[in-house]
Amino acid sequence: MASGEWRLASGEGRRAVTEARKFQAVSGVRDILPPESALWNRVEQVARDVCRTYGFSEILLPILEDRELFARSVGAETEIVSKEMFTLEDWPLDLDDPRKRIFTAEELIRLEEATKTGKLPSSEANREAIREFRRVIGKMDAEQARPLDSGETRNSWLAGFVRLAHEYMVVGRSLHGQLFALRPEATASVVRAYIEHGMYTQPGDVKLYYLGPMFRRERPQKGRYRQFYQFGVEVLGQSDHPGIDADVIELVLVFIERCGLVGHTLYINSIGCKECRPKYVELLRAALVNVKDKLGPDSQRRIETNPLRVLDSKVESEQGVIEELPRIGDHLCEACREHFKMLQAMLFMREIAYEVNWRLVRGLDYYMRTTFEITAPGLGAQNAVCGGGRYDGLVELLGGAPTKGMGFALGTDRLILALQEAGKGAAAQPPDAYIAWMGATAYPMAVRIARTLRRAGLSVELPHDEMKIKKSLGLAARLNARFAIILGENEVAAGNATVKRMAEGTQSTVAEKELKNFLKT
Ligand code: HAM
Repeated sequence: MASGEWRLASGEGRRAVTEARKFQAVSGVRDILPPESALWNRVEQVARDVCRTYGFSEILLPILEDRELFARSVGAETEIVSKEMFTLEDWPLDLDDPRKRIFTAEELIRLEEATKTGKLPSSEANREAIREFRRVIGKMDAEQARPLDSGETRNSWLAGFVRLAHEYMVVGRSLHGQLFALRPEATASVVRAYIEHGMYTQPGDVKLYYLGPMFRRERPQKGRYRQFYQFGVEVLGQSDHPGIDADVIELVLVFIERCGLVGHTLYINSIGCKECRPKYVELLRAALVNVKDKLGPDSQRRIETNPLRVLDSKVESEQGVIEELPRIGDHLCEACREHFKMLQAMLFMREIAYEVNWRLVRGLDYYMRTTFEITAPGLGAQNAVCGGGRYDGLVELLGGAPTKGMGFALGTDRLILALQEAGKGAAAQPPDAYIAWMGATAYPMAVRIARTLRRAGLSVELPHDEMKIKKSLGLAARLNARFAIILGENEVAAGNATVKRMAEGTQSTVAEKELKNFLKT
């Protein structure tokens, strides 16, 4: 069969393509290859080590969550939720889907029941869709039952019926099964898990960390991916002591330093609480209205939707205007002012250098009081390597008892990029030994030696196809092996190996049982 032709896949009864096609990772997601993956492993290991010393335990969270979880916590109006979330629909497997074929009025009853039993979400959109389906199906039934009017042709009747069918399809667009999202961040998941598993019954603060992929439908660029990785920690408990904030910040700085990154900057801010922030936001909105003409379209829109986000603007022409706006630090309530002052004292106590950035408002709705960000050099526009803050009302918002929360998430991709930019990337991991064997009788000995050495913790390359010794040693050199273990008929007979130190080119004869010790020296 010529390439490009179709054929029936045997047994499956469906069409399969025989034409070869190459695939690439989809836009904004990437493979992490060796040797870079070794650097990722090392960074993750440092994260685990540092978390252990601060008394944090790992939580493994699902990647799929109820979409509504993020709308409620991160905020339905935020960019992350309104524009960047990957949403998937889970239609019940045992329920027919009226969007795939036209239902009868009787079949609609099952759909309605499904919204009552919780099999389908009983959202306003779904209830409205069912009402609309009923209306359109009623019209279709009536159309089918009525005789043609005088002068009406079969074709004009059909055209009217097709219009109704089209209306039916349009109604279906608002109907939905359970909506899941690929998590865009993990704080909401941690809080969900904390409430779901009653973790508040544990003694002391609940201190958790996580590592894993997050998903945001952003425009990909350097340091910005659609699947990216975070290392994050969260502290949940009854205290909002600024010492917790300072400890969390200290933890991430220790982690960054142990990874070998230098030249980073810590920015902190307080964005107030539900007492003082709304008053400040109104003040800010009023000030923004006065300078509206000097702002670009995005900032103009945000005056209504979320004026705080205007402070985040990177638009060059807006910078002068923004600098003149009222600053939140001057409008904090007494308790928030005290908290922020204490935080700075706590950082000073820990010898942590920081800069106050009054414009640091962060793009997620759940924050209150402390917010912080760490930037790293060499990353270009996407230079925020870590972001975090306090979110005292979030547990309550998600149906739990009043609880305080504080945490951060660090973008692993960006940290690794910054390390690589600083020349601290990973080099390929060369094997300790390469076994160059020749002759059928040497192969079993090569297998035996490889197994013994690997059990002793050494990394060993064992080729399975027989090669000429020159080719074998050439490969050992290209792989940068420290030693080549040469096995031929003579070695097998004598029960020893010729060991070549690749860097020096020196050779020694070593008894098989001495190999492990010889290689370890
Ligand atoms: P976030 O600022 O949205 O905060 O993300 C934290 C970090 O994730 C960023 O500073 C950045 O390094 C990295 N990041 C975000 N988006 C991308 C992307 N598209 N590509 C690569 N890296 C990215 C949060 O996610 C909060 N949950 C942090 C938190 C935890 N607050 C309290 N607890």
